[in-house]
Amino acid sequence: MAVMNVGNKLFVQDLEVASKRVFVRVDFNVPIKDGTVENDKRLRASLPTIEYLRAQRARIILASHLGRPRGKRVPEMSLVPVAKALGALLGCEVRFVSDCVGPVAEAAVQALEDGQILLLENVRYHAEETSNDDAFARELAALCDVYVNDAFGSAHRAHASTEGITKHVGQAACGYLMKKELDYLGRALSDPKRPFLAIIGGAKISGKIEVIESLLPQVDALLLGGGMTYTFLKAQGLEVGNSLVEDESMGYARGLLDKAQHKLVLPEDHLVSDRCDFAERTLGQTRVVHQDAIPKDWLAIDIGPVAIERFRERIAEAQTILWNGPMGAFEIEAAATGTMAVARALAETTERGATTIIGGGDSASAVKKAGVADRVSHVSTGGGASLEFLEGKTLPGVAALSDR
Ligand code: 3PG
Repeated sequence: MAVMNVGNKLFVQDLEVASKRVFVRVDFNVPIKDGTVENDKRLRASLPTIEYLRAQRARIILASHLGRPRGKRVPEMSLVPVAKALGALLGCEVRFVSDCVGPVAEAAVQALEDGQILLLENVRYHAEETSNDDAFARELAALCDVYVNDAFGSAHRAHASTEGITKHVGQAACGYLMKKELDYLGRALSDPKRPFLAIIGGAKISGKIEVIESLLPQVDALLLGGGMTYTFLKAQGLEVGNSLVEDESMGYARGLLDKAQHKLVLPEDHLVSDRCDFAERTLGQTRVVHQDAIPKDWLAIDIGPVAIERFRERIAEAQTILWNGPMGAFEIEAAATGTMAVARALAETTERGATTIIGGGDSASAVKKAGVADRVSHVSTGGGASLEFLEGKTLPGVAALSDR
């Protein structure tokens, strides 16, 4: 499999940045509640690049999107709270300007002194960002001398601030976070220590077909859990009650079972309930059943204890593990046991020397919830981006960077 390699791309350390205006695309698409940043993981992850540039006395222009405002100035999607939170993390002033292009942005950049930091307002307040409009990309590029992309979480988007801008700057380099993400994910795919295990979960099989197909030839075993499991069980002719099933993916599931039975590990038992209210996060009666005994009107909501034990054994034996997608409806406390157990098993095996990589999104939330985010090797800051990378796709934000 051809793995996208960042090693031949310019790195921020290769650039002359002292007194230069450096445009840094970051991914500060973070949850905001009542004007406060709720989860600052992505802010913290960007600190190495920002601190490096500050130490080099660059004039730092940070740009990001937040949410999907679709070209409108949606006040709840302003980056104002992010400037405040970032300033607190860095222990210095982070200036803010209410637009990312035009006279106010130009004046704010002009006023920057060496080592100072400016955050531009949400680039998606302009529809030209997502349409990758060339004139808009040119306007962004005019603000700077050099460009750095550290927004791994947005690297799968060919937008003006991630892709278009690179056509109008002399040098476009990756930052520390971008490099770290691609190094971890890339090494797992191109040179994994074996046994190499992938754990794929989540509600829908349809969103994971490409990643399963891409990982299957590489891994020694693939553990499947979460809602997608029940399409596989139904494909084997088993009763799945009211469990989530994607009928349109049944043919795929059957084909996969035929061709890769030796590598696939499906959970043998399940936690089932007669009622599940996702909005209220409550369950009715629950019980554990073997995979061939799911009651007709019940639905499966987590993997069972036997499956957890078997998954734990597999995890303990592996040297490289990639995890993407929860094992059950983990947002409901009583259905989180399988997902939490996998998170903890990954932390334990990391401590014994294995490399453990958590694809972003739900699995990243799960390791945080289990309190083990600092005890695994790498938690990706990009859900969609890490998935596309693992699917073997080219990430436009990386492909557009300057070659060494
Ligand atoms: C993410 O949170 O996955 C990234 O910031 C990308 O956001 P998007 O899916 O709105 O492009």
